[in-house]
Amino acid sequence: MDARPVGGQSGPEDRRDTTRLFVAAEVPVSIQAQLGAMVGMLRGCVRRGAVRWVRSENIHLTLRFVGEVPIREIPALTSALRSAVHGLPPFGLHLDKAGCFPTEREPRVLWVGLGGGLDGLLQVQERIERGTAEWGRVEPRPFHPHLTLGRVVTRRREEMRRVGELMRGAPLPECGGWTVRAVDLIQSVLAPGGSRYTELATIPLGDPT
Ligand code: 2AM
Repeated sequence: MDARPVGGQSGPEDRRDTTRLFVAAEVPVSIQAQLGAMVGMLRGCVRRGAVRWVRSENIHLTLRFVGEVPIREIPALTSALRSAVHGLPPFGLHLDKAGCFPTEREPRVLWVGLGGGLDGLLQVQERIERGTAEWGRVEPRPFHPHLTLGRVVTRRREEMRRVGELMRGAPLPECGGWTVRAVDLIQSVLAPGGSRYTELATIPLGDPT
């Protein structure tokens, strides 16, 4: 993930200029690498082009997809995010089991679910959702903590079914858990080779010292 600031365009900023944002928790590089190896194994079992796999450095835990926000409102959104998580403690997570949205028979999103400090995670997620509600879109679906590994492109029924089965039986990397100590505001620029993410702000959890 890049860590360069947003904007940088020449000329005066248009009031309507927007950018696509989401809030996420980073996944440690060692866990990303092990999930990358899992993706490598899955990729080898699926027809090339049937699934758009997430690059390991882009694997993250989405806490809220905000969507398009005027660039000039990023400072206000950042400060709302800071207030929303103020004082909430860090929490632990570990990989749980692989699965698919919406169903194994017709999978669209391939993911690894999370376990561990889910109470802490849900509290952080709810506070973010409420505290930043004036920006972006409303998420109608309940929060389901997961790390997306791939998005299914194929619409061939038999192929989709095989991908679903593959995920059900997929062995997880044997890695330990990790602690989420911060949440990030991230800019997502859609690109043909996969989205490009840039961290705009990192907000630590826990008591500021
Ligand atoms: P997910 O992959 O964790 O499910 C950045 O685009 C992130 O925002 C994605 O990784 C995705 O989370 C999440 N997201 C949720 N709704 C989205 C939408 N409508 N369009 C794009 N991304 C969305």
